[in-house]
Amino acid sequence: VEQSYIMIKPDGVQRGLVGEIISRFENKGFLLKGLKLFQCPKDLAQEHYKDLKDKPFFPKLIEYITSGPVVCMAWEGDGVVASARKLIGATNPLQAEPGTIRGDLAVQTGRNVVHGSDSPDNGKREVTLWFKEGELCQWESVQTPWLIE
Ligand code: GTP
Ligand code: MG
Repeated sequence: VEQSYIMIKPDGVQRGLVGEIISRFENKGFLLKGLKLFQCPKDLAQEHYKDLKDKPFFPKLIEYITSGPVVCMAWEGDGVVASARKLIGATNPLQAEPGTIRGDLAVQTGRNVVHGSDSPDNGKREVTLWFKEGELCQWESVQTPWLIE
């Protein structure tokens, strides 16, 4: 099944937006498979964002992501990766549509409160990178028959 790695960045935690952001995904109807508050070490942040390592903003990005605890989540469901990207909105919050997380809750690219995987392959890669095996739960929600026919 498709999974997306969603992470509330340190600004989202510091600003008290954890419940608000989790609710967006809960309310949509995806299944939560993993959740933890976590202080990200530098090497993990660098591995996570390795595709951006040559960008001029890379050092600032690593400093940002490691500047305080993040909330790590694994969400599951058909189409979850693309749908989560839509719920999150454009990278630059000033260009993100109202109704999206970044469109409603942020103003700057360097403080855009949440991460979402950009492909199903990266969803798998990132869930594996951020969670140990025992940290993910196999469970079924009683809501599933009311969400999926
Ligand atoms: P993520 O979900 O966090 O991966 O964001 P994204 O997929 O919308 O954007 P991308 O993967 O291209 O960039 C990763 C993160 O790097 C962004 O979410 C920003 O936090 C940061 N970033 C990207 N571009 C810039 C930039 O031009 N300046 C700064 N300061 N940060 C940037
Ligand atoms: Mg990205």
